[in-house]
Amino acid sequence: MTDIQSRKADHLDLAVNADVGFRDKTTLFECVHLVHDSLPELAVDGLDTRTQLFGKPLKAPLLIAGMTGGTERAGEINRALARIAAESGYAFGLGSQRPMLTRPETRSSYRVRDAAPDVVLLGNLGAVQAAQMTTAAVAELVDAVGADALCIHLNPAMELVQPEGDRSFVGCLDVLARLRRELGVPVVAKETGSGISRKVAERLRAVGVEHVDVSGAGGTSWVAVETLRTTPAARRLGELFWDWGIPTAASVLAVAPKGFQSVFATGGVSNGLEAAKALALGAHVVGIARPVLQAYERGGESGAREFLAQVERELRTAMVLVGAANLKQLREVPRIIDGRLRDWSDAWTR
Ligand code: FNR
Repeated sequence: MTDIQSRKADHLDLAVNADVGFRDKTTLFECVHLVHDSLPELAVDGLDTRTQLFGKPLKAPLLIAGMTGGTERAGEINRALARIAAESGYAFGLGSQRPMLTRPETRSSYRVRDAAPDVVLLGNLGAVQAAQMTTAAVAELVDAVGADALCIHLNPAMELVQPEGDRSFVGCLDVLARLRRELGVPVVAKETGSGISRKVAERLRAVGVEHVDVSGAGGTSWVAVETLRTTPAARRLGELFWDWGIPTAASVLAVAPKGFQSVFATGGVSNGLEAAKALALGAHVVGIARPVLQAYERGGESGAREFLAQVERELRTAMVLVGAANLKQLREVPRIIDGRLRDWSDAWTR
């Protein structure tokens, strides 16, 4: 196994088995309150949760967020989760395609189109890697997997706590601007668990980026994952920044008014009520990563399918209870924001 393949294997094991959640920081969805409607005049079966993403239909606004690739086990996970997404009408994200660049034998672990011909499929590559590549080379990665869009992930926090991680993040905004202009598919600027601020949202919009995945704080801490993998000497840095980042709910509030075509709310979403809150704050699609992987590891393909079906049932329950017949109405329901989320919300307007 190469270094990068053993890193990917470690990531899966730690994400499934280790305590890699945030310690004190939460998503702050607990500070969002939706208003109960005693007279919804709606039937659960009559709700419309359909939406469009990159010109394709989704049956529900859910994304299995990008996690893996590069090993045989990763390939099995990708195909199983892509199948679930296709059957259920969700979107599906691949993990970083970087291993495809140097290890041709890893390419098959990203191929999910035979298992899920019509799924809305998101490719994935780090901004630092993309900045060193021609647009044609990036396009080749997109074509090789048949992706509908490409997530360019931003992960300075997790890189900085890794002894062997990237140290320069110069050129990341430029590459987003270039790929947005030159790549044939939409580009999503995606965090990896530390959230997108209002300022960053404005800088992304200024270069024409139309899609953003906030991947905020409160769920999986990638600083934690890398801290558990690191040397004792480097551990101190990781311990200090374990909880670094913008809570997911605060990040959705930061980016929602900025005119993106799509806002993905990923990071610590563990049930359908939190998904409903993210949508009510202005997200278009809700992403879930580690909880889906854990459900898959515990109960196989049917375990992951059942977990997501439960999330969908909870989302539909919340929609009835706030009187929203469809996602447009859900996005417009009144919401009460208290506690720390109010402080974050004030900070965005300063
Ligand atoms: C991830 N995530 C991730 N993101 C990305 O852009 N490229 C990647 O290769 C990976 N790899 C990866 C592996 C595993 C095992 C997990 C659990 C996650 C980050 C993921 O997409 C998401 O942004 C965060 O995990 C936050 O969401 P959850 O896990 O709190 O739902």
